[in-house]
Amino acid sequence: MTAKLIKGTEIRDQILKEIEEEVKKIKEEHGVVPGLVTILVGENPASVSYVTAKIKTAKGLGFNEIQDNQPEDISEEDLLALIDKYNKDDSIHGILVQLPLPKHIDEKKILNAIDPDKDVDGFHPVNVGRLMIGGSEVKFPPCTPAGIQEMIVRSGVETSGAEVVVVGRSNIVGKPIANMMLQKAEGANATVTVVHTRTKDLASHCKRADILIVAAGVPGLVKPEWIKPGACVIDVGVNRVGEKISEKTGKKIAILKGDVDFDAAKEIAGWITPVPGGVGPMTITMLMKNTLKSLKFKLGIA
Ligand code: GUN
Repeated sequence: MTAKLIKGTEIRDQILKEIEEEVKKIKEEHGVVPGLVTILVGENPASVSYVTAKIKTAKGLGFNEIQDNQPEDISEEDLLALIDKYNKDDSIHGILVQLPLPKHIDEKKILNAIDPDKDVDGFHPVNVGRLMIGGSEVKFPPCTPAGIQEMIVRSGVETSGAEVVVVGRSNIVGKPIANMMLQKAEGANATVTVVHTRTKDLASHCKRADILIVAAGVPGLVKPEWIKPGACVIDVGVNRVGEKISEKTGKKIAILKGDVDFDAAKEIAGWITPVPGGVGPMTITMLMKNTLKSLKFKLGIA
C-alpha cells in the first residue's frame, strides 16, 4: 500500500475532544450547554441506527439531547407544529429531522419550516444560500461536506490551486462540497469540476484530479486507472452489498463497499479514505460541531 490512510475515526476522536472541552468551558462561563432535538418519524432501521448514534454522541459530549420519536402516520400538520414548538424553545439550538420521511409528508416543506438559525443539518435554502456566498456568511455547512473538508485539511493535503473533481451532484454532498472547495478560503481555493451521470467521459476528468471526491452511490464505480498517482481520494459511498455475521457481536451486519475500488486504488493514490471508517464517522461529528456553533452564535461568541 502506497497511500496514506485518512482515518475518519481518528479525526472524529480529535474533533469530539475539542468540542467536549469547549462545551465544558461554555458551561462554566455561561451556564448553558448545546441543546439538540432529533426527530425520528417511524422506524426505518437505517434511520433508527443513525439517530441512535447521534443521540449517543450528543449525550457523551454533555449536550442537552432530546429524542423525539413520532409514529409513521403522523400528519404533516402535526409535524410542522412540532417543529414550530422547537423553533420557539430557547433551550434548543439544533433541530434535526431524520430523512427520509414517510411518503405522505412533503420533505421540502418540513425542512423549510426549521428556523434557519437552528438548522444544524444546513439543508434550509437560507443556509444553502449562505454557503454559496461563503466567508462569514456561512453558519452551518452541511455535515458530510464539512467532514470531508476537515479530513482533507487535517491530513495536510494542499487544496489551494488543486484540481478537485467531484463525482455526483446531490444536494447533500456533491453540490455543497464543490461549492465549498472553490471558495476563496483556507482549505479551499481549488479549481473544481463536477461530473455526474450525464458526463461524457468520467474517466478523463477523474484522471486530472489532485483531489477526487466520489459521492455517486455506485459500488466500485471509480477504477484504479482513473486515479492520478499521488492523488487524494475521498470515498463518500456507503453501499450495502450484502450481510455478514459480526465477529465482535455475533449479530448480522451489512457488508459495506465504497464507490472506489479501494484495494487497487490504495496502490496508486497518495491518500485514501476507507469504507467503512472513512467519511462516515465525520457526519455525526460535524453535526455536533454545528450544534455547538449554534449556541455560540446565540451567545455572541462564535
Ligand atoms: N439521513 C441520512 N443522512 C442524513 C443527514 O445527514 N441528516 C438528516 N437529517 N437525515 C439524514
